[in-house]
Amino acid sequence: MTLLTVWDETEPATPVLETTDADRIRETLAELGARFSRWELKPLPENASQDEVLEVYRAEIDEVLAAEGYTLVDVVQLTRGEGEEWERTKSAARQKFLSEHQHDDDEDRFFASGSGVFYLRGLGKVHAVFCEAGDLISVPANTTHWFDMGTDPAYVSVRFFHDDEGWVGHFTGSTIAEGFATYDQLAERRRAMIDA
Ligand SMILES: [Fe+2]
Repeated sequence: MTLLTVWDETEPATPVLETTDADRIRETLAELGARFSRWELKPLPENASQDEVLEVYRAEIDEVLAAEGYTLVDVVQLTRGEGEEWERTKSAARQKFLSEHQHDDDEDRFFASGSGVFYLRGLGKVHAVFCEAGDLISVPANTTHWFDMGTDPAYVSVRFFHDDEGWVGHFTGSTIAEGFATYDQLAERRRAMIDA
């Protein structure tokens, strides 16, 4: 269940919109120029390689490549481990894009498994999209945003690029991200909504 939470950017305590309706999410993000859609989930082989993931979703991926003019596609996987090494790995992975930044290219992601929250800042608001497996989201180039994978991350995600420079993050220096609900807090909220 994808969850969109929207706040005024100066009022992180009080959401102005909270919805799990896919059409509403799509329409709200379209106001920012962002695309959101859902693909039918397909089973992945156990410990699937990058090529195997790409093969499973070949038709859908080719459609995006053709429609958006992307030339590169790859797969990022974060698999839960244990011990100090994993503690360091997951903490570093989470910190990487946890502060507000922009890219010169669109940030286009499909979640083949797991979840993550994209926070898009625009129109005076912060839009947190709790993406789950099956979600495809695009953050348009130059949109200020951040990404939280949570304190116990695990996901398989397909990324699209126009070139190999576009993914570099330009950090804005703003601390706005620290004021808003984290992945863990939104995950809890989402669980409560599912149980209700
Ligand atoms: Fe980003």
